[in-house]
Amino acid sequence: MSLRLSSLLLLLCLFSTAKFSTAQTYGRNGMVVSTSSVASETGRDILKKGGNAVDGAVATAFALAVTHPSAGNIGGGGFLVYMDANGEATTFDFREKAPLKATNDMFLDENGDLIENSNHFSAKAIGVPGTVAGLYKAHSKYGKLPWKEVVQPAIDLATNGFIMNWSLYNAAKYFESKPTEYPMMQDFFNNHSNAIVEPGGVWRQPELGKTLSIIRDKGHNGFYKGEVAKKLAAFMKENGGIITEKDLAKYEAIERKPVVGTYKDYQICAMPPPSSGGVTLISMMNMMEQVNFDTLEFNSTPYVHFVAESMRRAYANRAKHLGDPDFNPDMPIDFLLDKALAKELVADIDMTKATKSDSSNFGQMPEGDNTTHLSVMDKDGNAVSLTYTLEYAYGSGMVDKELGFIFNNEMGDFNPKPGVTTSTGQIGTKPNLIEPEKRMLSSMTPVIVAKDGKPYLVIGSPGGRTIINTVFQTVLNVLEFEMEIDNAIEAMKIHHQWLPDRIMYEELLMSPDTREALKSMGHDLRGISRLGQLMGIIYEDGIFKGASDSSSGEGAAVGY
Ligand code: DON
Repeated sequence: MSLRLSSLLLLLCLFSTAKFSTAQTYGRNGMVVSTSSVASETGRDILKKGGNAVDGAVATAFALAVTHPSAGNIGGGGFLVYMDANGEATTFDFREKAPLKATNDMFLDENGDLIENSNHFSAKAIGVPGTVAGLYKAHSKYGKLPWKEVVQPAIDLATNGFIMNWSLYNAAKYFESKPTEYPMMQDFFNNHSNAIVEPGGVWRQPELGKTLSIIRDKGHNGFYKGEVAKKLAAFMKENGGIITEKDLAKYEAIERKPVVGTYKDYQICAMPPPSSGGVTLISMMNMMEQVNFDTLEFNSTPYVHFVAESMRRAYANRAKHLGDPDFNPDMPIDFLLDKALAKELVADIDMTKATKSDSSNFGQMPEGDNTTHLSVMDKDGNAVSLTYTLEYAYGSGMVDKELGFIFNNEMGDFNPKPGVTTSTGQIGTKPNLIEPEKRMLSSMTPVIVAKDGKPYLVIGSPGGRTIINTVFQTVLNVLEFEMEIDNAIEAMKIHHQWLPDRIMYEELLMSPDTREALKSMGHDLRGISRLGQLMGIIYEDGIFKGASDSSSGEGAAVGY
C-alpha cells in the first residue's frame, strides 16, 4: 500500500473510532440509519412527509454526497437492494463501468509491470459514475414522492451549508498537508477563503448545489447529458482521463434479480454480481447451517477456527469465479449457492488445524476501505439496503471545481495484470480483467433478510474486501445467536479472505487465550482496531430498532 494511502486510512481510523458503545434507537413509523446524523435526519424527514423507503434512501444518499464526501457520492457507484413489505425483492446495480477506451493492460508499463498507483491515483482510475443513474432508476420505479422533493434537501445542505464536524476537518487538514499529491483537494473545504472551515462553522458547497439542482430538474439526463456531462468530459480530457460524453450517454443502471438463500427459516436477499457479496455471504451462511451451534460457543476458539475456515473456502471461490455477469454469462452461481457444496466444503474442514491457502493458481487484490452503507424502513415495512462508494476515501482525490463533486477511483477494483497472480496481492483471473464497458467486481454487500416473508433485518457495511465477512457475521449474530442489532454490530468479528492466508481480528475483542490457541493450530493472526462500519435495522412486532456502528463518529439511527 502506498504511503499516502496508508496515512490517509490511518487518519480516517483515528478520527472515527472514538467510542465503543452503540445504543439502539427505536421507531414506530420508520427508521433511517447512516454514517451521518444530518443525512439520517434528512431521510427521516422524507419518510415523515409520506415518502416510502426508496424515497428515504434516495434522499439520504444525496444528502451523504454532501455531508460525507469521503464515500457519499454522485461521482461513484453502488448497489441497492429493495424488499417490499410482502417480501418481494429486487436490486439495482449502479456500479461504475470501464470507459469505452479502456484496455486490459492500461495500467502496465512497457515491461508489463503495474505502474505504481496508476489504477488508484490518476484520472484513468476513474470509472464511469453510476450513482445518479441508480438512484434515479430505483426512484422512478418504486419511489412515491416527486423526484424533485427527494433531491431538494441535499441541494439545501450544499447551498446553505451544514456544521463542519471534526472528521471532515481532520481530513481537510490531511489534504492541506499534501498539496503535491492532492492539488484538487486544496480548497475543497474552505468556502472559497484561504482557510479550512473550523469545526462548528458552516461549510458550504455551492458548486455541488448547482450540479444537484440540474439533477433535480433533469433527472438521469441532468448528469449523463448536457452541461454536466460536457464539463465532466472536458475535465477528463484536461487531466489525462479517458471518459467521454459517449461513455456517459451510454451509462444505464440495471435492475437485477437478487441472489436468494435461506438460513433455517429465514430468507436472505442480497446483491448478485458484479457484487461478489451476495453469493459469498450466502455460501458462508450455508456452511454455518451445517453445524450445531449448541456445541460451538460464540467467540470460542473452535468457533473462530470454523468461521475462518469457511471464509477461506468461500473467498477462494469468489476469486476464481466472479466478475461482471454481462461479460461472464457462465458464472456457476447456482453451484456456489448450492447447499450440497456447503456440505462438501465443511466436510473438508479439519477442526484441529488450519488449512493452507494454495496460492499457486491465483491471489487477491487489495481493496480500498472507504465506502458507506445506509438502511431505511418505512411505516409500511418496505426496506432499502444501499451501499455505495468512491473506492478509496475521497476516491481519486480529483474534483472538478465547477461541478463540485469528487470522482471515484474504482478502476482499481479490476484485476490489472492479465494472467499474473501472486500470493502477495495480485490477481489476474479472467472474469475481472478490464474490458470496455465492464463493471469491476465489488465486495459491497447490502442485504435484507426476511422472516415469515417480510423484511426483518436490513444491514450493510463499508470495509473493502472485509465487507462480506463483516456483514456475514452480523447476519449470523442476529439469526443464530439472536443478538439485538446493536450487539450484533459491535460483537467481535474476524476476517479471512483466503489470500493473504491470515485471520484479521478485532484486537480489543478477542482474548489472548483464543489468539494463542489459534496460533498453535497454524493460523497466522493480525490484529486491527475495528472491522466495518455497520448500519442496521431489525423490524419486529411493529417496532423498528436501528443502530449505527460506534466506529462511525458521526453516524446515527434516526427513527420516529
Ligand atoms: O466495491 C468494492 O468492493 C470496493 N471498491 C469497496 C471499497 C470500500 O469498501 C471502501 N470502504 N470502506
